[in-house]
Amino acid sequence: MNDRTALVTGANKGIGKEIARQLVAEGLTVHVGSRDAERGRRAVQEIGGGARLLVLDVTDADSVATAAAQVERLDVLVNNAGIMVDGRTAPEADLDGFRRTYETNLFGVLAVTNAFLPALRRSAAPRIVNVSSGTGSLTWSADPGHQFAVSAGAGAAYRSSKTALNALTLFYAQTLAPEGFKVNALAPGLRSTDLNARAAASDGDPAEGAAGAVRLALLPDTGPTGGFFSWDGTPAAW
Ligand SMILES: NC(=O)c1ccc[n+]([C@@H]2O[C@H](COP(=O)([O-])OP(=O)(O)OC[C@H]3O[C@@H](n4cnc5c(N)ncnc54)[C@H](OP(=O)(O)O)[C@@H]3O)[C@@H](O)[C@H]2O)c1
Repeated sequence: MNDRTALVTGANKGIGKEIARQLVAEGLTVHVGSRDAERGRRAVQEIGGGARLLVLDVTDADSVATAAAQVERLDVLVNNAGIMVDGRTAPEADLDGFRRTYETNLFGVLAVTNAFLPALRRSAAPRIVNVSSGTGSLTWSADPGHQFAVSAGAGAAYRSSKTALNALTLFYAQTLAPEGFKVNALAPGLRSTDLNARAAASDGDPAEGAAGAVRLALLPDTGPTGGFFSWDGTPAAW
């Protein structure tokens, strides 16, 4: 199939832009989701080929509905847009910080997924990839020796929003399995992006994390669903 289409939310920069670039390289037409038209246009120009701008703010119901109305069929949805307002060194997030974080990282995914389900149902092999985080792993969070231990990683709002996203991933995987969907969550690893400046001196390359999303986006019918995977394809701990 070389007429496959994908949507990547928050694809104007960072890991999302790399996912869009790699999906275009695989021959897909990719809707580059961007809440700001100009930033999105620049990314589309940079990526070239099959990249198309789709203005989409995942927290804005009208924006989500308008975007969904423009896409007839979708084979791949990558819920990538995310924010972190409670960084590692900041005091724990307040109620407002939790609400803002969940609006994007959880409710945004819910709204976009529901809005694009009709288009995904027109695909012969629908795939949904939720870009989660290793910090959302309760197993790793509770392990004081792990790089994603609560004491070492991002704050409570961010990490719990990703734990909830993992739960949502399982829900959709199970409810949509009878229709042939594959729905998985990805821990892309620490990447040097605006969201995570502290990764700059470590693992770094967003393209490597993006490759993990592309693998899950292009899973064959025999591939897994309802999984949580690290960027290199190994299972991540829930
Ligand atoms: N970087 C890491 O180390 C790391 C590790 C684990 C997981 N992640 C996850 O990877 C994903 C991408 O993050 P990143 O590191 O690439 O961060 P980034 O460079 O800050 O990119 C985030 C993207 O999300 C978009 N976005 C934010 N709020 C949005 C909204 N309401 N509607 C639409 N788009 C919105 C941003 O758009 P604007 O430019 O308009 O703000 C931007 O395009 C996130 O889900 C993040 O939690 C990242």
